[in-house]
Amino acid sequence: MDAKLSFFLGFLLGTTVTLTIVKSGAVIWTLDVSYRIGEQVDVHAKQSPSQELSFRSQEPCKQKNPACPDNLGSITKAINSSGSDKLWFHHYERYYERWLQDFRCKRGLKLVEIGAQHGRSLKVWSDIFVSPKTILGVAYGKSAQDVEKALGPKTSVMWGDQSKNTTMQELIKRGPWDIIIDDGSHYPPHMTFSLFSLWRSVNPGGLYIIEDLETNYWEHGTKLYGYVMQHTGINATAQYSVVRKIEQITQVLMRYHLGAENLSVMPGDDRLCSVEWGMNLVKLRKCTEAEYETHPRYKRKKASLNVINEWLIKAKSTNPFVAKSSKGAS
Ligand SMILES: C[S@@+](CC[C@H](N)C(=O)[O-])C[C@H]1O[C@@H](n2cnc3c(N)ncnc32)[C@H](O)[C@@H]1O
Repeated sequence: MDAKLSFFLGFLLGTTVTLTIVKSGAVIWTLDVSYRIGEQVDVHAKQSPSQELSFRSQEPCKQKNPACPDNLGSITKAINSSGSDKLWFHHYERYYERWLQDFRCKRGLKLVEIGAQHGRSLKVWSDIFVSPKTILGVAYGKSAQDVEKALGPKTSVMWGDQSKNTTMQELIKRGPWDIIIDDGSHYPPHMTFSLFSLWRSVNPGGLYIIEDLETNYWEHGTKLYGYVMQHTGINATAQYSVVRKIEQITQVLMRYHLGAENLSVMPGDDRLCSVEWGMNLVKLRKCTEAEYETHPRYKRKKASLNVINEWLIKAKSTNPFVAKSSKGAS
């Protein structure tokens, strides 16, 4: 197309003219017309519309559930009325509003939160999820003494220690889980240990969220819940910082396009679909079955597999020791 004509058309169409095909409430195909005409770039040159369509339609839980009441209050409101520090101190509502929305009407939803203190966050989950099967809090120590009094019909509690394999095995047994939230000791090696222990018991399409990452940056020697931070700080290595460990795990997302089949840091991380960082928290999302089945094929061996293997040996040397479990989601 003539460049001037293309500019003129792009101008006429504006920069946001978008054609969206919607089926049963779900966006299945979006075409940005002005981008294609104005820039003369076919972004999907190697993909037929049907391939494009099949990838887009695999977004988890996007279909609006007809059983979902119209009067669902906002997640922010529920967090606010509970008095949880998730809102007034951390402002996690800005993430939870989006991350949890698609799960609200999932029938039989299973959520566990490590760190049930006064039952405030259990109340939030009970308010925002319409028909859960399980909302379980893991309580620990004296600070959680009043949690049992705060339980409602949708919530339950078990006593456990996230640094112990026995607690992890119990959680695996009670899983698999749609959502796991770590709001427990905030001691970085515990965060890593729990993630490594429980990732396989996250359901396809499910989430693993870790809150309060700031402790990874605290000064060596700082105390919280009786734990003394070890070798923490902005320069902490992956042995002492879950932030660094998840940064390593994030590299695994490139494995298919690098042709690096063995690029795996954590057991089951081949099922990782995305990592989203927020202010002081992180969300790891497991692929749905459909996403996993259609993952890109291993190709383009342009990266040095030797260098990757050397990197892997180093990365894995800072992994926690986690006992093998016979049961897990995948
Ligand atoms: C920030 S509070 C959680 C607040 C909670 N989400 C609520 O609103 O009720 C962290 C909790 O984790 C508990 N905790 C400390 N060490 C733990 C451990 N090793 N395993 C599990 N929980 C632990 C603390 O005692 C405290 O009750």
